[in-house]
Amino acid sequence: MDTEQIESEQHANFIKQFAADVKEGMSQTPKKMYSKYFYDERGDELFQSIMKMDEYYLTAAEYEILSMQKEQLVADMKLMDAPFQLIEFGAGDGYKTKVLLRFLLESELDFEYIPIDISTSVLVQLENSLQEELPDLKVRPIAKDYFSALEDLKSNNIRKVILFLGSNIGNFTKNNAPGFLTQLSDRMNPDDYLLMGVDLKKDPNVILAAYNDKNGITRAFNLNLLNRINQELGGDFDIFNFEHFPIYDPVSGATKSYLISKREQTVCISSLDLQIHFEAGEPIDMEISQKYSIKDLKDLASKSGFNVVKNYFDCKHLFTDTLWSIK
Ligand SMILES: C[S@@+](CC[C@H](N)C(=O)[O-])C[C@H]1O[C@@H](n2cnc3c(N)ncnc32)[C@H](O)[C@@H]1O
Repeated sequence: MDTEQIESEQHANFIKQFAADVKEGMSQTPKKMYSKYFYDERGDELFQSIMKMDEYYLTAAEYEILSMQKEQLVADMKLMDAPFQLIEFGAGDGYKTKVLLRFLLESELDFEYIPIDISTSVLVQLENSLQEELPDLKVRPIAKDYFSALEDLKSNNIRKVILFLGSNIGNFTKNNAPGFLTQLSDRMNPDDYLLMGVDLKKDPNVILAAYNDKNGITRAFNLNLLNRINQELGGDFDIFNFEHFPIYDPVSGATKSYLISKREQTVCISSLDLQIHFEAGEPIDMEISQKYSIKDLKDLASKSGFNVVKNYFDCKHLFTDTLWSIK
């Protein structure tokens, strides 16, 4: 098979899985979407706008940590001697990772960068920008879901540093996060590290504003998934019939985003031969963004086969990059 055939087969498999997940999610109570499908080309663009919003403090906080503490971080990971792979789950546009990549190159370390992302469009964008900005970097992008990428992880004995930045772990519920992280720790060796960006519990108003910006960018980001279903699966969602509704529960630390049906309506998805009935006021559960305390993180590490090596904070202690090794 040539590259074109492989890509078209991969795309067909992706659409098949997307369709199955939409069908399954729409049959649940409450109805549910899987947030990994937010990221088509328009979704990537909207997320990049979210990262630039004043309200979305997460990006600036993590950028500060990586910029100000990169020397210490790299020293703590003891990266100076052997070659290693820098594997990033859910890399996105690599805006913050580039700080680390540039520093690792300047330090003349021997490594390969392997960004993994479900969005092929963001990976192409990332690869092109890296070629221009860091031409000496060895890059091997992988367009896969986290779970299928996990299967490739233990295929060699090269040292690994795994990045999971930008609060991506927050998209797992507190119950599901240990299962995913245990699969990671099972595939890591004692001198490998995981560096994970985690959003911390804090003033609930600050958190909620990050998911409910005044310009409606997060709203558009959520509604875009309905547009994607229309385009790729033949749906007839009218996005004006749904409203974005985020909530933050300071006890559990979960931010949940819902789309609320403004009226009773029936939506058809032709490729699934599916009719979905919505009551007025009925929610679709779109996304979770789980926040953690430092104690929560210690418990999560322990449940998942990890030790916390060190936590790095921004100056306002809004966010942490937490460095873990296996037990
Ligand atoms: C919130 S963005 C963060 C991007 C980047 N880590 C950052 O900090 O800027 C999440 C990224 O993870 C990717 N992603 C989400 N769910 C995924 C999954 N199940 N498998 C692979 N990639 C996923 C999305 O396509 C998106 O690029």
